[in-house]
Amino acid sequence: MSKKYKIAILPGDGIGPEVMRQAYKIINVLKKKFFLNIQYKNYLVGYSAIKKYKTVMPKETLYGCEKSNAILFGSVGDPRYNFFNKNISLEKESLLFIRKKFNLFCNIRPAKLYSKLNYLSPLKNSISINGIDILCIRELIGGIYFGNSKFIYDKNKIKKKAFDTEIYSKKEIYRISRIAFKIANKRKKKLTSIDKSNVLKSSILWREVVNEVSKEFPNVKLNHLYVDNAVMQIIKNPSIFDVILCSNIFGDIISDECAAIIGSIGLLPSASINEKKFGLYEPSGGSAPDIKNLNIANPIAQILSLSMMLKYTMKLDNISKKIDNTVKEVLELGYITKDLSNDVNKEYVSTDEMGDIIAQTLIKNI
Ligand code: IPM
Ligand code: MN
Repeated sequence: MSKKYKIAILPGDGIGPEVMRQAYKIINVLKKKFFLNIQYKNYLVGYSAIKKYKTVMPKETLYGCEKSNAILFGSVGDPRYNFFNKNISLEKESLLFIRKKFNLFCNIRPAKLYSKLNYLSPLKNSISINGIDILCIRELIGGIYFGNSKFIYDKNKIKKKAFDTEIYSKKEIYRISRIAFKIANKRKKKLTSIDKSNVLKSSILWREVVNEVSKEFPNVKLNHLYVDNAVMQIIKNPSIFDVILCSNIFGDIISDECAAIIGSIGLLPSASINEKKFGLYEPSGGSAPDIKNLNIANPIAQILSLSMMLKYTMKLDNISKKIDNTVKEVLELGYITKDLSNDVNKEYVSTDEMGDIIAQTLIKNI
């Protein structure tokens, strides 16, 4: 019998459950046709967990994640949550809690525009024609997301001030930089580190540490960009970028920009891993409650996140590549979901149909 893998599946809120249903189709192909010994169990998280457990992060869910080799995550967030507690963000209590709890410091988001699909990009053809293949590596459990923060109230208990703290230790910067250099070394040997060291002390330290680590990787060409300049260059000339290294907040913003220029956030998967390669795999986009249950959400980011799980946690690179190539093939055949087209006359497939087409094409490609 082949190695057994246990996956905790947390579909979450909004479009999470419907895109996750498409990932199940792929998991079933992996079990039946690739003979992978995958066991999965569903757990509630986010707004969807409140009804049963009165919390967005139930103990049962946490326990389920602890017993598993990896977590396949949908998305969390629901506008109705504000009625429950105005000051604690649902995302912080669930998704960010899991990231921190499992020490998932390294977030990897690949944004790739396939050559025949450059029409999907909102960029001018003269720019997109040069191709986009950017791997965004984001520090995920430090910085302003987890630094000291507070509301300060006046004597009438009305909010008067608020602050958040961008804080990084050298150790945190070392550990994410090393991974970024290692990955860059296996690709085009080109790494761009993003900071705002003309203003922020935390960025000065960031740049110093990245420079130090670069000495261990003489083959990798390193350059630094201020974040404001970086967002411009990524739009104007994305083909010059290969691996981008960012702090938590800059990576959050830049990875969305990378998603936009390849056509849709619905295409961008994400892997968040720790030293032991335990990982949480999730689409980079949010729960998109406005299009929930309409069967129009794009399931590709969820399916590619599953593929990243095969690559990073299970070390099944070949099967992961098969899934990625299948997605590419399906898109190149012209099947697209609504988010990928602003042409009203263009025919698009539903969430469910896209899941079926990818699953069937994967079977054909075995
Ligand atoms: C992401 C998301 C999250 C983040 C939210 C949902 C907290 O935007 O994964 O990029 O900011 O990290
Ligand atoms: Mn984000």
